[in-house]
Amino acid sequence: MIIAVDGPTASGKGTIAKALAAHFGLPHLDTGLLYRAVGRQVALAGGNPDSPDDALAATDFPDSLLDDPELRNEVTGGLASRVSIHPLVRKALFERQRAFALQHGGAVLDGRDIGTVIAPDAEVKLYVTASVEVRAQRRCAEMQDAGREVSLDDMMADLAARDERDTNRSDAPLMVAPDAGLIDTTSLNKEAAIAAAVEAVNAAKEQGTRNGK
Ligand code: DC
Repeated sequence: MIIAVDGPTASGKGTIAKALAAHFGLPHLDTGLLYRAVGRQVALAGGNPDSPDDALAATDFPDSLLDDPELRNEVTGGLASRVSIHPLVRKALFERQRAFALQHGGAVLDGRDIGTVIAPDAEVKLYVTASVEVRAQRRCAEMQDAGREVSLDDMMADLAARDERDTNRSDAPLMVAPDAGLIDTTSLNKEAAIAAAVEAVNAAKEQGTRNGK
C-alpha cells in the first residue's frame, strides 16, 4: 500500500505521515528533506539557488547531508522552496522517490507532489492543510522550544511566500489531487489529526477491498 501525504509547510503532514508509517508498519520518506539537502548543498558550494545549473549540480549531494541538523531550519526551508522550482532538479530527484514508493510492501511518502506526480497510483492520498496563522504559531512554538525567537508576523510572511512559490511554480505545483482526502488540522490537536488520518487510510483500504484491489 502506498500512502501519499501532501500539503503546505507546517500543516502537520510530516507528523501525520510518520504516525501512519508507525501505525501501518510501513517505511516513511520525508521528500522535503531531499529538496532541503539540495538547497543546503547549493549554499555550502557558494552557488545561487535560483540558478538552474547550480541547483542541478547540488542534487549530487552526499547522503550524509541528510543527517545535517541545519536541514530543518527556516533558512534551508526557503532555499529548498527556491531550488524546487527547477524542473531538472525535480527530475533528478524523481527516481529516488519513485523507487521508495514502489518498494515491496508499500511506503508512506510526504511532500507536495506525491499524490499527483511521484505516486499518482497511490492507494491512499491525503492532503493536509491548516490556516497560515496556525501554521506560523506552530512553527514559532517549535523554534522557541529550540531556543530561537522569531516574530509571528515574520513567520507568517515567510510561510505565505513559500506557499505562493510552491503553489504557483509551473512544474509539479502544490495542489490537491482530485482523489485526495482533505484533513484540515487548523483546530485539531496532534492526536486528533493522527486519528483522522488513520481513519481515512482504513476507509480507503476497505474501499479498495470492496473494489477487489
Ligand atoms: O516539506 P518541507 O517544508 O520540508 O519542504 C521544503 C520545500 O521543498 C518546499 O517548500 C517545496 C519543496 N518540496 C517540493 O517541491 N516537493 C516535495 N515533494 C517536497 C518538498
